[in-house]
Amino acid sequence: MQQDGFIQLHAHNGLAVRAELQAGLSAPQAHTSPKYLYDALGSKLFEAICALPEYYPTRTEAAIFDTFGAQIAASVGSGCTLIDLGAGNCAKAARLFPSLRPAQYVPVDISIDFLRDTVASLQQRFLEVDMLGVGMDFSESLDLPAAVSSERRLFFYPGSSIGNYTPGQALAYLQRIRAACGGDDSARRGEGGLLIGVDLVKDHALLDAAYDDALGVTAAFNLSMLRHLNLLLDADFDVRQWQHRGFFNAAESRVEMHLEARLPVTVTWPGGSRAFAQGERIHTESSYKYTRQGFASLLERAGFEVRHCWTDPQQWFMVCHARVAVGGATLPGAIDTREPGR
Ligand code: AVJ
Repeated sequence: MQQDGFIQLHAHNGLAVRAELQAGLSAPQAHTSPKYLYDALGSKLFEAICALPEYYPTRTEAAIFDTFGAQIAASVGSGCTLIDLGAGNCAKAARLFPSLRPAQYVPVDISIDFLRDTVASLQQRFLEVDMLGVGMDFSESLDLPAAVSSERRLFFYPGSSIGNYTPGQALAYLQRIRAACGGDDSARRGEGGLLIGVDLVKDHALLDAAYDDALGVTAAFNLSMLRHLNLLLDADFDVRQWQHRGFFNAAESRVEMHLEARLPVTVTWPGGSRAFAQGERIHTESSYKYTRQGFASLLERAGFEVRHCWTDPQQWFMVCHARVAVGGATLPGAIDTREPGR
């Protein structure tokens, strides 16, 4: 479906979603993809999380963009094709427009319905920027429509969304971004890059609090997934029978969110069911935390050359600009999320 300024590529596949949910809920360690946290209510609750005193990532990243906007623009260069992965309300990218001056802006999100109004009003404010909203599941594919310029592509991936991937998946995903930048061809022209935000390892109590806040907003965000699952799978989760768990797992260098059965529960859906013992959990999200070194080496392994990284004074969050490296072949070896000797 194409109309002026918008292209929708992704179609909702109810059958595939059911199969995926059924498999995850039936696994010995039950799990669901964090993408199901974001229905209409879930997205509102995530916005509320971003306003919590305990949830530092959003405001820390915004402060980095504000403080170093000019430096970031100087590193990136003007006139790029700015491809915003998970653009949502486009606010983060829009704040960079005055300094970055992109030639084309391509907000990508799962549905153009989320993008339509924001892009339209953004276009009024920045008439000189060519804008094209793309509705696609960028976790599945980065094959962008031909109307997206292949010149000077800069992928924008803020918010530490990369943290939802395991380090191995993150490496693979960064490699796909490198290919979508134009691979070796753009590398030889000194073009193609990535501007990415990543959350850093820090005091464990701060991490615990950020994902288990005093008001219980994160708990509501996590629990609200059950209602979404009821809708997607015709399941019969009773939200009151579950409780939120959110904590830092230091051995894995990740925050984990789980939903824990308060009592023995059997959940049913058409074609299946799952019994949960009291205290048994559904793993709903992992949010990996990196060291500065660890993330820089991940970028290099993916075939990027790190140009510059910016952090806040407390080094809680990091924004990196990386360029496609010439002949940036993937280096073998295990991926370590921790600093050497830490
Ligand atoms: C949107 C994936 C970056 O991992 O911090 C916030 C989501 N989950 N609170 C994160 C989230 C619980 C968030 N990301």
